[in-house]
Order: sequence, then structure tokens, then C-alpha cells
Amino acid sequence: MTQDKVRVPDLARMKTARQPITMLTAYDFPFARIFDNCGVDVLLVGDSLAMAVRGEDNTLAVTIDEVIYHTRAVARARRRALVVADMPFLSYQVSPEEALRNAGRLVKEGGAEAVKLEGGIAIAETIRRIAAIDIPVMGHVGLTPQSIHRMGGYCVQGRKSGRAPGCRQRLLEDAAALEAAGAFAIVVEGVPPSLAREITASVEVPTIGIGAGPHCDGQVLVMHDMLGLNDSFVPRFAKPFAHLWDNAAAAATAYVREVKEHSFPATEHCYSENRRAW
Ligand code: KIV
Repeated sequence: MTQDKVRVPDLARMKTARQPITMLTAYDFPFARIFDNCGVDVLLVGDSLAMAVRGEDNTLAVTIDEVIYHTRAVARARRRALVVADMPFLSYQVSPEEALRNAGRLVKEGGAEAVKLEGGIAIAETIRRIAAIDIPVMGHVGLTPQSIHRMGGYCVQGRKSGRAPGCRQRLLEDAAALEAAGAFAIVVEGVPPSLAREITASVEVPTIGIGAGPHCDGQVLVMHDMLGLNDSFVPRFAKPFAHLWDNAAAAATAYVREVKEHSFPATEHCYSENRRAW
């Protein structure tokens, strides 16, 4: 692990050097600092915050102001990692001008070093415009959660051949369009590993996979999935590397018991009468 600050061009160098890129979502200061300290290369302030942090069913309600709020907390924790902020639904689709303004706000007010947009060919011109004012853009193809209603749910994409949205050939063309528009990296979500491999081989920019198998140039997980910090459905690809839900429940149960039993707070948790309490 390099201790040097990760910057946008480093991701391309990592692809060339076949060094896997690690990305995790983060939404607040403490987890961002933990992940940064542990050598995570990219911290993504994802619009997944709607589901992971707020318990919503999908990501559509998130606003640009909410992403800025969370990005600010993550950016304050950043020492080494590259901070990328998601552009939420309707913050970039209405017009390139609105997209430019909102991308700029994520950098200027949030402290992001890059922004991420979902979509392929349809959004390529907007990416070109944002990249042209030197805001680095990460693309996102395959299972794009903001397209939940078109997809009919969180369904694996690229299983069917063809050029219709979500079909195999179209996803390859989407990735090519993002690269041509100036995206510096592309998230590939929810596709079979063979397609992720083909996309990764077909573009020069790094791909970062989630639910896309082992052949991408990097991997990303939602932090709550990685930490086992949820009690409901966890998708097949989301390996929990810890079980923080259970750990937190055990801690809260012990706290409740000790307060009820009058064993907390104990003497060591109390201030003395005659020493300054600070
Ligand atoms: O919003 C998010 O967390 C994402 C990742 C799943 C890639 O877009």
C-alpha cells in the first residue's frame, strides 16, 4: 500500500500496473477516517446513502444538498484516499448546465475530487461537458440503481444480447461512450463476470466492479454490506467482512442491562469532587 495521496491519474497507473483498486462507500467522518487509514484507495459518497443510512427502498429521493452534506464530512476525514461524490437522480439529467453547476457544487462545497454519474451513451455529452471544465468524472454502467423503474427492480444486466438498454452489446457501447467522453474510471455493476471482463479489456480507463465478478480493475462495496451492518436482505455479491450489526446489538443490550442494574456508571466513570473535571 502506498502512503501517498491517491489522485485521479493514479487510478490509470494502477490499471496499467495491474494493482487492484479498492473503493468503499462512506457517508460520515469516523468510517471515512477508518477506511482512509486502512488504505482504501477511493471513498465514494454514494447516493446509496438513501438505503444504507436512511432505510429507504431506493436511491431516487436523495438531493444534491444531502450529498454535499455527507461529502463534507468524508472530505474532512480524507488524508490519502480519493473522494468521489455521487450525482443524485435529477441533478444531471435535466440539462448539461444544471449538471455542471451541481458537479461544481460537489467539488466546491463538498470537497469532492471527482463526481460519479450513472448511465451510458445517453449521458456521454453531459460527461464531456463536466470533464471539459476539469471536474473528473467516474461513469457507472450495468445495473444503475437510478434506473430501477426502467429495469423493473435491481436485476442483473447484460444477460441478454442486443443493443437495447441493459443488453450486452449496448453495455459495451455505453462503456466505450463514457471513455470517449472523458470519464477517468467506470463502475460496472450487476453484470455477469464474462461481460465485466470484456468491458474491462475494451476500455483503457479502469473499471471498478460491484456484483460484476473478479475481472474488473478494482472492486467497490457499500460499507454497510462490507461491515455486516444491516439486518435485512444482503445481495449475493456483498461479502460481510465483519458483523457489526450483531456487535452493536450486543453492546446496546449490555448498556441497557448495566443501567437497569445500576452497575453503570461505576466510580471510574465519575468526576471527583476536588479535581477539575476537564
Ligand atoms: O451509490 C453507491 O453506493 C454506488 C455504488 C454501489 C457503486 O453507486
